[in-house]
Amino acid sequence: MIDWKTVPKTELHLHIEGAAPPDFIRMLAAEKNIDLSGSFKDDGSYVWTDFAEFLQTYERACSVLQTPDDFRRLTEAVLDVSAANGVIYTEMFLSPDFCGGGDLGAWKEYLAAMTLGAKNSKTKHGIETRFIATCIRHFGPDNAEKTAEIVAKTAGGLLTGFGQGGEERHLSAGHFARAFKIAGDAGLGLTSHAGEILGSDSVRETLDAFDVTRIGHGVRAIEDPSLVERLAAEGIVLEVCPGSNIALDVFSKWKDHPIARLRDAGVKVTVSTDDPPYFYTDMTREYRKLHETFGWSLEDFQDMNKTAMLAAFCDDDTRQRMLAKFE
Ligand code: ADE
Ligand code: ZN
Repeated sequence: MIDWKTVPKTELHLHIEGAAPPDFIRMLAAEKNIDLSGSFKDDGSYVWTDFAEFLQTYERACSVLQTPDDFRRLTEAVLDVSAANGVIYTEMFLSPDFCGGGDLGAWKEYLAAMTLGAKNSKTKHGIETRFIATCIRHFGPDNAEKTAEIVAKTAGGLLTGFGQGGEERHLSAGHFARAFKIAGDAGLGLTSHAGEILGSDSVRETLDAFDVTRIGHGVRAIEDPSLVERLAAEGIVLEVCPGSNIALDVFSKWKDHPIARLRDAGVKVTVSTDDPPYFYTDMTREYRKLHETFGWSLEDFQDMNKTAMLAAFCDDDTRQRMLAKFE
């Protein structure tokens, strides 16, 4: 029997706020006297029934994260869970909108605090972290451009990427092209959510509008064979989050999930958890489910982790050091 928990793992798609353990959010709510009733079920997990409600609860839970030190503590709490699940390299999505609301000076303080958290976790667990700052699609293009500007000014250190999350049904990718250009010009790696809630057109528009090397999810590309061919030919890496897709009913059962078919078609796939406590998952469970559903072996996971490290938004020394751990 393989102990999936201790198998070394790379994770490229993890939202820091979405990874917040519910107990951690309740603890901050109590400390600050904030009423979050209605946001949790009796078993303590987050309340949501569909993607729109998930985003609402997510933003409500974020209301307790009010200071840079709250985010330092969150960084360490999230990385404790990642490390316990065998993750040795992780990229976390940060949202400047929740970290000072677009003010450069405030964002610098939040970023410094999360960097300290990541460094403390590296000392504690050896886990390597990079940050991808995201704009939030339903906050609109002007906001996305302002976010990209402050992110561009703070690029470097652990902040190595720019991305976009939020409501995929809000405006097409082209509206956000300028934001991605600003971030790309600052040397940041680019990725964007697409093909999660919407179908293959959304992925195609994203590839046409932004210079991305990776797509968050991208799994609904499976609906269009010519797009699958394009993803394979262009070497676009998909940050696939199967447990998240099943929880949100993008696909109803693990056996229906297209990750194996995409991989067989030559698309570069990787595995992540997205917002693990919201979707009742962790990296150990993702690996175990993929093994049980598609028969993936340790060798398959080693290969996939190498794919992830080759697509990681990190310097080459780190890349080579991490790749060696998957040989
Ligand atoms: N933000 C956090 N999780 C997300 C998801 N699964 N899709 C889009 N935006 C998100
Ligand atoms: Zn995501």
